[in-house]
Amino acid sequence: MAFQELTRCTLQEVEGIPLLKPMVKTWERVKAFQAFPEDLLIVTYPKAGTTWTQEIVDLILHGGDAEEVRRAPTDIRMPFLEINTAKGSHPGISQLEKMDPPRVIKSHLPIQLLPKSFWESGSKVIYVARNPKDNVVSYFHFDRMNMIQPEPGPWSGYLKKFMEGQCECFWIEYVNALCWGSWYEHVKGYWQEKDKRNILYLFFEDMKENPAREIQRIAKFLGHHLSEDILNNIVQLTTFDAMRENPMANYSSIPGNIFDRKVSDFLRKGEVGDWKNHLSPEENAAFEKHYVETMSDCEIPFRFVI
Ligand code: A3P
Repeated sequence: MAFQELTRCTLQEVEGIPLLKPMVKTWERVKAFQAFPEDLLIVTYPKAGTTWTQEIVDLILHGGDAEEVRRAPTDIRMPFLEINTAKGSHPGISQLEKMDPPRVIKSHLPIQLLPKSFWESGSKVIYVARNPKDNVVSYFHFDRMNMIQPEPGPWSGYLKKFMEGQCECFWIEYVNALCWGSWYEHVKGYWQEKDKRNILYLFFEDMKENPAREIQRIAKFLGHHLSEDILNNIVQLTTFDAMRENPMANYSSIPGNIFDRKVSDFLRKGEVGDWKNHLSPEENAAFEKHYVETMSDCEIPFRFVI
């Protein structure tokens, strides 16, 4: 596939949410996706800890068997529902349509865009949220290294787009927003539904603070009992360092012309509080003010340090 075909997709709106333009081409198939009760959905705003949670879930489902979990890279084991990146690429929906349930499915869709069949079938849903300052920093570095994502531009403008992003059509290009839309609406959407639906709502910061506790919560939600040994094994296999070294969990299978590792690694730092190295005091003050106003109708206990 020609390199040019893969570089820097533009965004297009679906029901008010900006998505990568090629994703819109397969949108009708995604919307009609048939989920089954045995399927499990892991859904997040991008860069909230999706890959980490996927690895934990796969290990739980395989009794902590590291060899079994190394059978294939993350995106093959647990396909990405709405992803479609370029002409000739293999959309997530095509992978999923060929798989039998039970499937573990990744998505970044906001709650209103999720295929209805997830709710109708009663599939379990794990949502992971990350404090917005670390989330935007991680997304910025990801957009710098992922040649499929729109060009992030300078940090200050990126932060503004994250805070105030509105998808506007400028000639034929949608601009001023990040792919998958507003972080604020995303985290609120799932938070408000979590007690009415089969949703386990997790926080990146809790996972960092006490991985064993959070892995147990996930196991319980999935109906699995973990012995002390298996739990400890899963904790060790899913540390940042262990996953960074694991070719089946670190996205090293993605070619360098798509993920430019000279710019940033996919598993970059994996910390809580890296935002302090990025937001200036002025940016931090403006962010705080906007955060308090925007989140006042839905208080979610985010932690910016642990
Ligand atoms: P950073 O960019 O802050 O390092 P996603 O999988 O949703 O794209 O999220 C990626 C973020 O999760 C990256 O954050 C990555 O380093 C972090 N991450 C992945 N695995 C992790 C782990 N085992 N422990 C801590 N952070 C992890």
